[in-house]
Amino acid sequence: MMEENVVIKAENLEKIYGYGRNALRVLKGITFEILYGEIIAIVGPSGAGKSTLLNLIGCLDSFQNGSLTVFGRDVAKLSVEALSGFRNRHIGFIFQLHNLLPEFTALENIMMPLLIRRIKKREAKKEALSLLERFNMTDRANHKPAELSGGECQRIAVARAVVAEPAILLADEPTGNLDRANSRILTDMLLELGNEHNTTIVIVTHDRDIAARTGRTITLIDGNIQQ
Ligand SMILES: Nc1ncnc2c1ncn2[C@@H]1O[C@H](COP(=O)(O)OP(=O)(O)OP(=O)(O)O)[C@@H](O)[C@H]1O
Ligand SMILES: [Mg+2]
Repeated sequence: MMEENVVIKAENLEKIYGYGRNALRVLKGITFEILYGEIIAIVGPSGAGKSTLLNLIGCLDSFQNGSLTVFGRDVAKLSVEALSGFRNRHIGFIFQLHNLLPEFTALENIMMPLLIRRIKKREAKKEALSLLERFNMTDRANHKPAELSGGECQRIAVARAVVAEPAILLADEPTGNLDRANSRILTDMLLELGNEHNTTIVIVTHDRDIAARTGRTITLIDGNIQQ
């Protein structure tokens, strides 16, 4: 396996919440590699550590032992500022509860990652509008999340995660609150957008249909990867 094809590499990765008597070892030294352009599902029972792992890969949280390399960068060695820049450049995140900014419209939410990257407003708007059109939501551009359905919010969250064309797309149960039909639509979009740009995608899911559509599945059980 060629090293340069590895985009995410974890070695003996350990995550412990709390201290002393209250310490909870949630990831118990896990080792894995994810290759450039791979589409992976992370499955496992509730509490197994799936979201914890995704947050680590997404550089949203720190860990205690082991190492994590994303794009050849040793994540533990990056400062908080360097991490947030790194995240903004390379990673798109779709949270379980869409996490849209309530005071901004659908259009503005999608534009946000581009504006953070200092892309001109006019350009950002153009990109965001083209995604809205693709998602069949042009007429909802100026609605705020509270005025949108759950499925529509999830679609906006996907648009926001992909608008800056991140090399890595992380999704934590993106279809968790959707019915089958909407879940299907959202998964199609996610995979289609990923394939277009050869994005590395990691999806945490309980949905067997989604897992079956990915290239590989990692099963987490009680903080360990099941072989
Ligand atoms: N901030 C925290 N502080 C302390 N314990 C936490 C924290 N976040 C999660 N945990 C605990 O870590 C364990 C793993 O949580 P995690 O959210 O990663 O599970 P999960 O596999 O995503 O589960 P689910 O399928 O229910 O979303 C759980 O026992 C949880 O209670
Ligand atoms: Mg979770």
